[in-house]
Amino acid sequence: MTAGIERPVWTRKHLLTINELSREEILFLLDTAESFKEVSTRSVKKVPALRGRVVVLMFFEDSTRTRMSFELAAQRLSADAIDFAEKVSSTKKGETLLDTARNIEAMGVDIMVLRHPAAGAAEHLARAVNCCVVNAGDGQHAHPTQALLDLFTIREHKGRIEGLNVAIVGDILHSRVARSDIRGLQKLGARVTLVGPPTLVSRDFEAMGARVTHDFESILPEMDVISMLRIQKERMTASGFPSVREYVHFYGMNRERLRRCRPDVLIMHPGPVNRGIELAADVADGPSSSILRQVTNGLAVRMAVLFLCQQAAAGGEHAP
Ligand code: CP
Repeated sequence: MTAGIERPVWTRKHLLTINELSREEILFLLDTAESFKEVSTRSVKKVPALRGRVVVLMFFEDSTRTRMSFELAAQRLSADAIDFAEKVSSTKKGETLLDTARNIEAMGVDIMVLRHPAAGAAEHLARAVNCCVVNAGDGQHAHPTQALLDLFTIREHKGRIEGLNVAIVGDILHSRVARSDIRGLQKLGARVTLVGPPTLVSRDFEAMGARVTHDFESILPEMDVISMLRIQKERMTASGFPSVREYVHFYGMNRERLRRCRPDVLIMHPGPVNRGIELAADVADGPSSSILRQVTNGLAVRMAVLFLCQQAAAGGEHAP
């Protein structure tokens, strides 16, 4: 490298998985999100960073948090945000994802935010278009912005991630959030324990460098952070456990279990919550819960993702 010319930390125009990011890139993105969080506290919640840019939200699966926060993030950066309404689109007439995307790109779109039920769909799209592609969740594969907002929230609460004991509990098998969280947490130096019934958390996950246990009770006192996952009934082909009642008995987080945790334990959930199944309502709404703070932080994180990807695509030009 030429002396005096600093290489920018973030040079990616796509965000497809957390696996591809270095520790340095993750920390840079979290720091950028930190500065964008302040924007939401202003009376005029807007900066001109993406003025004149177009962001299209292509959601082929239901979403509340991710879709709305990407839309709001684009608006707060002064971009035009367009919602691609899949249910009334020409994909219903048989148009493929790539043909749809190329036609949308032909209208002058700068960033495509894709949620799709097929694992690998975001990478498939990124190979076919010239604009930026951000993965908003692809099948059971990856949900990088959820992992980034989870990391942001943990760092905000605990002041660090390095050395923390973090449990991820529940339906690991079907969870793109778990896969992305595991990688993100490990890159920043946390120890990850996966908890759930053998049908939903097999020993195969140890290959990811995580500890696997089926005994939730035993790990409660040692955890700094416990992230409860939603039971994904829509992705289960066969029941992952004998009954919901039995699942709640062994793996539900409730007031009694919370009492056995450290007083400063952080209880997380990516949403949407099945109240009374993976999480009792009084814990979800209690002081240890960071559920709504995760949602708030998701906006700042998604502003950072849109801004950094667009900046990289534009060759590193600075925000006006
Ligand atoms: N956590 C999450 O991805 O929520 P949505 O499905 O509502 O976007």
